[in-house]
Amino acid sequence: TPRVFSGIKPSGGLTLGNYLGAIKRFVETQGQGMDTIYCVVDLHAITVWQDPADLRNATREVAAGYLASGIDPDQSVLFNQSQVSAHAELGWLFNCVARLGWMNRMTQFKEKAGKNAEKQSLGLYAYPSLMAADILLYHATHVPVGEDQKQHVELTRDIAAKFNHDYKADGFFPMPEPVIEGPATRVMNLRDGTKKMSKSGESDMERINMTDDAATIAKKFKKARTDPAPLPETYKELSERPEARNLVDIYASLSDTSAEAVVTEYAGAGWGQFKPALADLAVSKLSPISEEMDRLMKDPAEIDRILGKGADRAREIANPILERTYDIVGMVRST
Ligand code: TYM
Repeated sequence: TPRVFSGIKPSGGLTLGNYLGAIKRFVETQGQGMDTIYCVVDLHAITVWQDPADLRNATREVAAGYLASGIDPDQSVLFNQSQVSAHAELGWLFNCVARLGWMNRMTQFKEKAGKNAEKQSLGLYAYPSLMAADILLYHATHVPVGEDQKQHVELTRDIAAKFNHDYKADGFFPMPEPVIEGPATRVMNLRDGTKKMSKSGESDMERINMTDDAATIAKKFKKARTDPAPLPETYKELSERPEARNLVDIYASLSDTSAEAVVTEYAGAGWGQFKPALADLAVSKLSPISEEMDRLMKDPAEIDRILGKGADRAREIANPILERTYDIVGMVRST
């Protein structure tokens, strides 16, 4: 059976980008006859400094976001990465497979490191190799992600191919496919339509957080940057209007329709009409989720229990694959 794996970093709060580009699609993938494995990637989070108390809280909040959005821990394996040590172990083996030249091409590292590459952690540099381990440890075949993770999934395929080739283990690691679908694979910053919406952008007005209340969501959409022209007749006409296109894409994704259908519905409408409609739609979809997250966050022990049970199930899949990998590599194992 096809197997789906994806992960979210507990580095700050969840954004509308994480929801539309990832979590919402994970929920849609559940119950479609595939194994679904969803992870809170805490080992990835610490590639940049995380205050320990904040990390603990963010890990539970990402778990609560998954659960409140509809990830069912009986239907999917839901756990946090550090509880399954096989991730770190396979990550090390892959550090010895991946080439420096490959890592040097990773655009996310270059963006995050900026001019300060010398000051970054070694972990941030090796991040994509740990991500490859996350995926290949389960022999996952499908990886639903936002557009920004495409290069990392392609690197995962390169690592799988080189491992299989070097160790003459043809077909051992499958070639996972990135699944980048729907109208919101790259949700943009509300103040600058050329930048991605992210957890770490400097102004809170740039992003919608999954935990924002109704008034905050309405205010952020109202203040979102747009151009003065009304909505056009066709979606194609939005190609040079990144801010306008972004709001249409968000609307389409929230209402489970296509961006073309949204443009048809609102053709000729001004922002004074579209933005309040978008805000109402976002509130109606997000507020039940954020209320449920609040409720779950009041009982952290229950979240920890769910993550612990998920980790037990993850280990059952991962450990035999890790053992076979060690054997292929030539590690002596005494048990
Ligand atoms: P992270 O935590 O940055 O983001 C989690 C998921 O949300 C998507 N996403 C977006 N999608 C659309 N628009 C946006 N503005 C936006 N911002 C974030 C991301 O593409 C991602 O799917 N490296 C990963 C975590 C990871 C992972 C993995 C993913 C670790 N191991 C294995 C898949 C498989 C990351 O940093 O996600």
